Amino acid sequence: MAASAVKLVRSLCWRRICEIRQVNPVSIPSVHLHMTAAAMQVAQKEFEKAQEQLKLLKNDPGNEAKLKLYALFKQATEGPCNSPKPGMLDFVKKAKWDAWNSLGNLSQDNARQEYAKLVSSLVSAESAVQKKAASPEEGGDGRYETLIVTTENKITKIMFNRPDKKNAISHKMYREIINALQEAAKNDCTFAVITGNGEYYTSGNDLNNFSNIQPSEMKKAAKDGAELLKEFVGSFIDFPKPLVAVVNGPAIGISVTLLGLFDLVYASDKATFHTPFSQLGQSPEGCASYVFPKIMGAAKASEMLLFNKKLTAAEACALGLVNEVFPDSTFQKEVWARLKAYASLPKNSLALSKQLVRSTEKEKLHAVNSRECELLTERWLSDECLNALVSFFQRKSKM
Ligand code: COA
Repeated sequence: MAASAVKLVRSLCWRRICEIRQVNPVSIPSVHLHMTAAAMQVAQKEFEKAQEQLKLLKNDPGNEAKLKLYALFKQATEGPCNSPKPGMLDFVKKAKWDAWNSLGNLSQDNARQEYAKLVSSLVSAESAVQKKAASPEEGGDGRYETLIVTTENKITKIMFNRPDKKNAISHKMYREIINALQEAAKNDCTFAVITGNGEYYTSGNDLNNFSNIQPSEMKKAAKDGAELLKEFVGSFIDFPKPLVAVVNGPAIGISVTLLGLFDLVYASDKATFHTPFSQLGQSPEGCASYVFPKIMGAAKASEMLLFNKKLTAAEACALGLVNEVFPDSTFQKEVWARLKAYASLPKNSLALSKQLVRSTEKEKLHAVNSRECELLTERWLSDECLNALVSFFQRKSKM
């Protein structure tokens, strides 16, 4: 089962769809009632140009777009769907077949035009996102691809910046957060704030971190992933200044478990707190297996960490995971006014007091972090986890 699950996750990967562009030379029917020969030539040129442009995309455009590209390419080059319907359990082939078949009798010329239009919109969307992430007025300085990091009024703000992916934490983002925390530890800020750009705080670990891995490389990938996670969580345990979470929207997975390592947590009333580990065949990280029972008691911690109970902001506050909840309409204004006032407190006194409060637990937290990462290395290789990933990607492929 594990091998076929990996195959499914892999088979939805971007490179595979890119390869599809190059199968079969494009054939143009000699008789067309609705297009002149010259117009057909233009459409054909645009189609070929779009195939070249597609190669320049840096980011995976998502399953929905990939399936549309696949379907339009097949329609443009082969005409209406002509292959037998795959079996229900052949999820990937079925999703592709459905996408192609849904184009019905769309003409090959129109399919070529639609394909070119779609590629052009993907290219423009990507360059707009890149410009936004790097634009100085947005606070990005181009050093981070997945974050916006700024230091102003003695506060270093580290903002997750993949809003179109609900700020899912890719491996790149894990590394960038480690770097941003290291910088904030050394610069002259009084404390660091972590928050999210857009609707979500973050949807947790990017589930694509587990995809596109050859079965023979699974063990190594799990080990490398666990090492990265251990370093990541370690950088929160060791952060020497106060750490503040400004939870602007829903928080999932590791973004929730880490909250026990923060010194102050403010939440919008739109935020929710969800750790669906057992649903994903995984296990808790971020030291939550130790810190959560201490914060909220074993019974409530188990409800969250074992049974996937999603908390509202008010519930999280009542359990002590969140300091205070604000109405979303005034959240940013109220929170930042308060943080600006806190940032003018004596910096060294704050840092030393934080270190004192955390010092008795630090060694224990590192030990818990190691144990959690060891267990996750096993879990990531389990059929339970792979099946859960397949379900997630399968959900996305059923458009
Ligand atoms: N990993 C990878 N991709 C993610 C993601 C994650 N954790 N969270 C969101 N995304 C991607 C989606 O795949 C989608 O990509 P696409 O546009 O390329 O298809 C995009 O972000 C938007 O998400 P979508 O699922 O369309 O939005 P939604 O509002 O229907 O659902 C979530 C949002 C967060 C509830 C849903 O995406 C989800 O359940 N994500 C997984 C959360 C999770 O299990 N995290 C790990 C915890 S350990």
